[in-house]
Amino acid sequence: MLTSTVMKQLPRASTRSLRRPIQAASTRLQPHRLYHETPNSRASVETARSLNPTDPLTNLPPTWSPAPTITGNRPQLDITKQVFKPSYYQAVAEIMKLRSKYITNRSVFIEGSDMASLLLGLGATRADLDALQRVSDNLYSDPTLPFRRSRNGRFCFDFSTSSVRRLEFQPFALSVEEDFKRHDSGQIRVFDEVQDELQLNTAFQALLVFKGMICHGVATAQRPRLDYYSDKWVCTLFNLRTVTTPSILGEPALEGVHTDGVDHTMTTYLGSENMDLAANSAVTFMHDMNEETGAKYTEIKPQNLRSRVQHRHFLDTLLLVDTENKHSLSPVLPVDGTKEAMRDMLIFFTRRPVKKDGGGHISESIDSFRPHGELPMEVPLFLPGKIYGKGQ
Ligand SMILES: [Fe+2]
Repeated sequence: MLTSTVMKQLPRASTRSLRRPIQAASTRLQPHRLYHETPNSRASVETARSLNPTDPLTNLPPTWSPAPTITGNRPQLDITKQVFKPSYYQAVAEIMKLRSKYITNRSVFIEGSDMASLLLGLGATRADLDALQRVSDNLYSDPTLPFRRSRNGRFCFDFSTSSVRRLEFQPFALSVEEDFKRHDSGQIRVFDEVQDELQLNTAFQALLVFKGMICHGVATAQRPRLDYYSDKWVCTLFNLRTVTTPSILGEPALEGVHTDGVDHTMTTYLGSENMDLAANSAVTFMHDMNEETGAKYTEIKPQNLRSRVQHRHFLDTLLLVDTENKHSLSPVLPVDGTKEAMRDMLIFFTRRPVKKDGGGHISESIDSFRPHGELPMEVPLFLPGKIYGKGQ
């Protein structure tokens, strides 16, 4: 078992840190619902409720009281503040259509321009959408891959509190058993941590809320040794820059055909430079589970190929059921071969926690659900499968 003291002493991929300590603080949900709070309106609502036991207002989310130490520094995404804006309902309606598509097809691709509207509808700011395009400039190195710059951070989708919060640092590992065959399979990897620059960006927080809305309550094939009864899911977020130079080829999936060892994977494109899209750079292929793990994208069998997508525009987003699809990617090819080519992504891995008696799961000892003490973040979720106020 790795203790928190040992964790803090582990060497990071980069010694350069942007960490800015913030007071740890808690967030909480208030027990009352959100509607116009004049005495008359409350009285009329209560009267209507007594006459109508299937009160539609129970579907409104409760109000949210974020910690003052967080809001004092920077506004946080609060979907409960959006509930009287038509754009919020348009976004929710569109996301529910995407959710239906996801449930049917087990993957869904959303164009970036559509994604931007959805994130704004959930309450993200335009300034934060712009800032998201530059956040990868502060990535420096990767623990095992020379052509990649990376950071990660762990978040908890907590369906008991209807919120998503930052979790304390833990190392990361994927194993061959999880259909991840690479030279560093089974190795405990220590990444630099995602900082406030990203986690307090409202567009990023809206991406988390979006993923929660799509995936909550969606039944999938199950992985061994994960707790499918838990109402807390772990989301490991990677901010990655894949770099091709004149001397090294940048491969977004050096491991070839693989799965990410989780239940739901979401990949969001932030941008690229000098990347040759027309030459099929960084194309994502989705495969039947019968495809051989580790096969290069040049070795994939057509009969196992389910679909092909290419992230081309800011916020282009792919969501897939990771237990039911394998995937692979082509490399990043440059337009000008004398210069670096780079591709920036956010990757959201989400899975159930490892069972208490994990029985040898690679992440058994690095699966803490304690909140992050120095980089707190928590925002409310909208959960389509949950009836607020009914205790379900
Ligand atoms: Fe992957």
